Amino acid sequence: MKSAHYRLDSSRSTLLLEAPATGSAGTMPRILYWGTPLAIDEQPESLARALTRPALQGGLDDAVPLTLSPSLVNGFPGQPALSGHRKGRNALPGFPDVSVKEDNGSWTILAKDTAAGLTLQIVISLAVDSNVLTMKTRLTNDGTADYDLQWCAAATLPIPSSHEEILSFRGRWCGEFQTARRRAPVGILMRENRRGRTSHDSFPAMILGTEDFNETTGAVIGAHLAWSGNHRVLHERLPDGTRQLQMGELLLPGEVMLGPGQSYQSPDVCFTISDEGLGGLSSNFHRFLRSDLLPPQTRKPRPVTLNTWEAIYFDHAPEKLSHLAKLAAQVGVERFVLDDGWFKDRNDDRTSLGDWVLDEKKYPHGLEPLISEVQDLGMAFGLWVEPEMVNPDSDLFRAHPDWVLHLESLQEPTGRYQHVLNLTRPEAAQYLFDSLDALLKAYPISYLKWDMNRDLSHQADGQSFVTGQQTKALYALIDRLRESHPTVEIESCASGGGRADFGILRRTHRIWASDSNDAHDRQSIQQGFSLFFPPEIMGAHIGPMHCHTTGRRLDLDFRAITAFFGHFGLEADLSQLSEDELSRVTDYIALHKDWRSILHSGRVLRQVLEDGRALVFGVLAQDLTKAMVSYAVMEQTRDALAAPLRLPGLDPDRFYRVCAFNQPSNPGRRMKNMPDALFDGSLILSGRAIAGSGIQIPVLDPDTALLLQITESGMA
Ligand code: DGJ
Repeated sequence: MKSAHYRLDSSRSTLLLEAPATGSAGTMPRILYWGTPLAIDEQPESLARALTRPALQGGLDDAVPLTLSPSLVNGFPGQPALSGHRKGRNALPGFPDVSVKEDNGSWTILAKDTAAGLTLQIVISLAVDSNVLTMKTRLTNDGTADYDLQWCAAATLPIPSSHEEILSFRGRWCGEFQTARRRAPVGILMRENRRGRTSHDSFPAMILGTEDFNETTGAVIGAHLAWSGNHRVLHERLPDGTRQLQMGELLLPGEVMLGPGQSYQSPDVCFTISDEGLGGLSSNFHRFLRSDLLPPQTRKPRPVTLNTWEAIYFDHAPEKLSHLAKLAAQVGVERFVLDDGWFKDRNDDRTSLGDWVLDEKKYPHGLEPLISEVQDLGMAFGLWVEPEMVNPDSDLFRAHPDWVLHLESLQEPTGRYQHVLNLTRPEAAQYLFDSLDALLKAYPISYLKWDMNRDLSHQADGQSFVTGQQTKALYALIDRLRESHPTVEIESCASGGGRADFGILRRTHRIWASDSNDAHDRQSIQQGFSLFFPPEIMGAHIGPMHCHTTGRRLDLDFRAITAFFGHFGLEADLSQLSEDELSRVTDYIALHKDWRSILHSGRVLRQVLEDGRALVFGVLAQDLTKAMVSYAVMEQTRDALAAPLRLPGLDPDRFYRVCAFNQPSNPGRRMKNMPDALFDGSLILSGRAIAGSGIQIPVLDPDTALLLQITESGMA
């Protein structure tokens, strides 16, 4: 087969594709190389020859490369990228007719199999600055009968043999974004999600790295499916060492039945590579989100938020709300978000979802008095909604019991006493648009917290699964609302971090990372979250001292420092705080405002010390003039005194002032004296010393943290 080669370059990588030369029938193209930039005169033909694998004894007579759409027809014995059939026929398309179109940083690969009546279109683009590679796949049924599609990988990526380690995600409600590291096993390692939303337990991502990879070193590949529905993420290692990563939408039986002329479009998969470990990987994804993916309103300072949920729950007594608003403004809050409980008869979580009109008993004069008070206090106003859901005890359900996702003749189990509206029914989607549009027109609401509190179990309309269509209908509803109300910002919340992905982030502005406001739990949740998402989109609040999801009682500084780096806020009854606590909260908010332009544009620093006994999280300014770092102790360190904290990343030749913002609580418990230099503003060190010899952290109690400000010496 005669081959043609194609090349894309980003600031930090070169991507080479090998495809059959125009006019010569062949197999699907394959990625020949994706790695550190190659010299411009590097010959792809030589690279291809250098990488040619011998045919092995006992196998087929020609070696079988891993293509963009591996398949049995080409002799590939592993997981195919495509699976489907037309009443038992056309199950093995070979796509011999391939063309590649190049267009300004992207390729469109069109592959046809006329006999099977199928066309595959794969679009690949490489973002120059962020080094993020995006791939997506479209399958079109050119035949005259329906095509039953069972699997269409959005992307297939070859994994180099050097990347032996896999980091994958697990989690649960109030414990999202936990990671597990292991060696790449022989066979398939697969995560499947059938919850109908992104899920708390199976964030659709995988990281592969060299044996030595850590936060700062080692080569890593990161992959994420930009999709908020069911998914499949799989890594496969064949006996000959070939390795592939596939990701795509998990399709339920019969869910995608392509009629003649119809197409299935996969979600995007976003990949990146880095030779600077997880820190480099995060930096690439964060840059990509900031410059290419997030809606433009996100590129302004994130207002400090007060959310009413853990302050008042369903008790919307006017005097409580008014007092809360006054205290919020006093401590420096800029946005006041009225959470659940404001709409008709919603006094607990068993009723009223679907009835998006104000509770006139709680708000006899409408929302105006509260909103005016909030605005007069200098804050913007936001409102909680959960549009996709309906309680059986609601006017909406009584009027339209058939508007929910359901299976014929089977009662769906409720989740948080609610069902899911079938957004694929135009009348249900229209009702939601009208209800939300009316609210946004009636009141100056600049922010919606869009909640979603249950998995989808009956993901069907009668007899057919509609999960993917439901996800697309949700996207369409949000897009339509944003078009009508372009300045309104939206938070994606799904019982916390149950819908955190790049698909929802194309149309929303931040994510509520977890329903756990417990700073102890949040430390590891936020570390995992930050691998793919930048701090500014991470909703992070100072919760009550007594955490309602775990029962832990946590120190105010620890709660404030843990929330400090994200889209910062409060979610507690401020009237319960002492004068001293209110003044400390005020100080943290003021400090956050001073630093947020750096926290929300810089490079994230993470360290897991002593097997997780201490966690470091910070942000380094892109120009290396400043860094803010938290050192949190989860459990007593093994040695009486933890090792000095070494922070790589600053300019080795510049000098920095290092100063703690807070004092350790109970310092006398285990120390006879404190290392004063860290607290009196006199400590000046070079970036080289901070990275090399480090800084001695005083003995801290478990569940406390120290916040370190590092500023180039001579700067304020
Ligand atoms: C679940 C959310 O995650 C919480 O923050 C809160 O908004 C409640 N729902 C309200 O019902």
